[in-house]
Amino acid sequence: MLQRDIVGLPTSMYPPDEWALVETAWTERYMAVTETIFAISNGYLGLRAVQEEGHPHAERGTLINGLHEQWQIEHAEEAFGFAKTGQTIIPAPDPRRFHLYVDDEILNLASAEVSEYERRLDFRTGQLTRRMTWRLPAGVVVRVTSAAMTSLAQRHLVAMRYDIEVLEGSAPIVISSQLRNEADSRDNAGDPRLADGFDHEVLECVDARADSTRQMLEYTVANSKMTLACAIDHVVEGDHITDMTGHATADRGKLVITADGVEGSRISITKFAAFHTSAVNPSSTVTPTHQLADRCDRTLDRALRTGFDGVAAEQAEYLEDFWDRSDVQIGGNTTVQQAVRWSLFHIIQAAARSDGLGIPAKGLTGSAYEGHYFWDTEIYVLPFLTYTQPRVARNLLQFRHRLLDHARARAVEVGERGALFPWRTITGEEASAYYEAGTAQYHIDSDISYAVDKYARVTGDVEFHHDAGAEILVETARMYASLGFFRETDAGTSFHIHGVTGPDEYTTVVNDNAYTNLMAAKNLADAWKLVTRLREHDREAHLRLIGRTGLRREEVETWRRAARTMYLPYDAAKGITPQDDHFLSLEPWDFEGTPREKYPLLLHFHPLVIYRHQVLKQADVVLAMFLRDECFDDEHIARNFEYYDPLTTGDSSLSTSVQSIIASRIGNASKAIEYFRYGVFMDLADVAGNTSHGVHVAAAGGVWMSIVYGFGGLTDTAERLTFRPRLPSSWDHLHYSLMWQGHRLDVAVERSEVIYQLNSGPDLVIDHEGHSVTLTAGVEERCPITSVWDDQHRGEVESVA
Ligand code: BGC
Repeated sequence: MLQRDIVGLPTSMYPPDEWALVETAWTERYMAVTETIFAISNGYLGLRAVQEEGHPHAERGTLINGLHEQWQIEHAEEAFGFAKTGQTIIPAPDPRRFHLYVDDEILNLASAEVSEYERRLDFRTGQLTRRMTWRLPAGVVVRVTSAAMTSLAQRHLVAMRYDIEVLEGSAPIVISSQLRNEADSRDNAGDPRLADGFDHEVLECVDARADSTRQMLEYTVANSKMTLACAIDHVVEGDHITDMTGHATADRGKLVITADGVEGSRISITKFAAFHTSAVNPSSTVTPTHQLADRCDRTLDRALRTGFDGVAAEQAEYLEDFWDRSDVQIGGNTTVQQAVRWSLFHIIQAAARSDGLGIPAKGLTGSAYEGHYFWDTEIYVLPFLTYTQPRVARNLLQFRHRLLDHARARAVEVGERGALFPWRTITGEEASAYYEAGTAQYHIDSDISYAVDKYARVTGDVEFHHDAGAEILVETARMYASLGFFRETDAGTSFHIHGVTGPDEYTTVVNDNAYTNLMAAKNLADAWKLVTRLREHDREAHLRLIGRTGLRREEVETWRRAARTMYLPYDAAKGITPQDDHFLSLEPWDFEGTPREKYPLLLHFHPLVIYRHQVLKQADVVLAMFLRDECFDDEHIARNFEYYDPLTTGDSSLSTSVQSIIASRIGNASKAIEYFRYGVFMDLADVAGNTSHGVHVAAAGGVWMSIVYGFGGLTDTAERLTFRPRLPSSWDHLHYSLMWQGHRLDVAVERSEVIYQLNSGPDLVIDHEGHSVTLTAGVEERCPITSVWDDQHRGEVESVA
């Protein structure tokens, strides 16, 4: 039961458009939210959609994946094994500043008379464009158009345009195009989800220089010792340009252009920005800034040769391929279609060129959650990427594999064997200072292993599975075998895992959390199965694995036994799965006595108050039923859902997608649609009230999941893909595509039938509504939908300003 309202942006100002997010008027009221939802990023660098001319309250700067500052965490009371190193993403200089002076008046959106305003984030061109007309009191009228993109083809590059046209009158024009290090004035206002500011100078300038149209800044990050170089270069064309001078100081590079603006004259500035950083991991040798500067020079030289139009063409090409594989079409509902494409666009923006790095919880659209990587990627984002962009999915899993040594060290530190991945991190070290809702989430290991197994099954990438994948599975299985214990009673042997926190962060440090046990059991079983397969069929890989992990035969047998005897709490009287051993004995939360403004509870109640009640931040058993549906029958799923749904506040944005999927599965159409609407409009309607902090990337991944696994009816936990689609009545159709073992499967759900089409490869047997269907490449297979869904939710989100 979500304690939230869906109050969308007014459609008069943000009209629905299937392929773009559009803003037709600017108000300060929506500024912070639109900075997030119009943000551009390529997975390596990201820019919030701040207005070029600057605004006192905007969070500015370039968010670079992995560029962080760190510090020694000072715990008020120390204890052994507490996380030691705090890490937070820090903004690199902002290349999008253009200060425009006409007749010596500065353009400031908050006070200027602006007409014909339109800003557009186009999902096919990957460009953020803005067009507006500025009327000055003295009668001069200028049109300002701009464009920006974070290149998907060249990950270190930002390409921008800033064009001015004098429509009426004449006046001197000055444009100051800048690359500016913004003083870090962050203030977390007591919200633990936000990043803190610093009281030291974080970016220490090593060199700053201006050379004709190019300006270069080089920095070292004070404590993390990471290095950064960034540079801008310009191509300026136009009429009556009188001067162009470059400047550089420790925190600013700029090119100042002056011109005599006469009616009809134009000035067009193409600006490229390049960013290069050293490797994230502090143990590797730090690249000196002058080498990074050379790389910036090369990036800029290439960009100048390619030109803005060339970069735009590369961008469009990348996105054409992306949409070809990844688009989800929803017929008959433009608002939902727009929100779905917006979500998918933001996922690829967060992931595309993360190449060797993780995906921060907010992507690169805001510094909340400090740019940390969580389980969000493996459980919420990787399903989409695995099925549509397997190369990107593989990179993300390889990234986890590279963190294994840190995870091994952490396991030792907390008294276990194998590897324990950090709950939140940039460098690979645990960065969560609050262990109850951090380190105690031992399920992180099984989430990563789950993603490895799914990736391997869906893609058939044996090389990855038998190598990096196997190492992850072994080390994580080892961790669970060491963390848990066998208990012998008259009833037999059972394996228990105590002292852990499940996904629901409102119930911490418990015994036998059902989610953790179910996921750990799969982790242990998958590791055992894979090792057995390697031993029998891939001796080389098996020997390599032994060499890397010191694997012993007995331990593999222990994993098998632990998986088979894993304890799962069950309450026979209620017929439900308790979230953990004691959950059902906790006092019920007083939902009726808790007014809306007290949500999220974490901002209004001491954690202990929350922990002693039956109240959920996010889906826990319900998530386990989605990920391990083979362990539950339909009635059990329905009973569990009905028990936990009213207790789930949705204070985490990770909940709604999963609740929608399970509601779909049990045929609860109205709940499925209601939760889907919360999820799909999470940011566009600022459902959680914190879109200004950045895009909820996991919720965006959840949108794809609730469509494909929910309405699209996919189940992929068994050997075969099975489908049982059900279309909401306000949709005319739903089309989506999946890559299965290198072959593409298109699924078109119409009102009364589903059309499956396999595009290549050998025959594929799937299951449609319980019947097996053999798909042959190039042949359409039509299957009737027999179960009718009687839902009354035809409405879409109406604009409420
Ligand atoms: C959720 C976590 C999630 C994190 C980052 C928290 O509010 O409880 O499950 O990983 O946000 O999105």
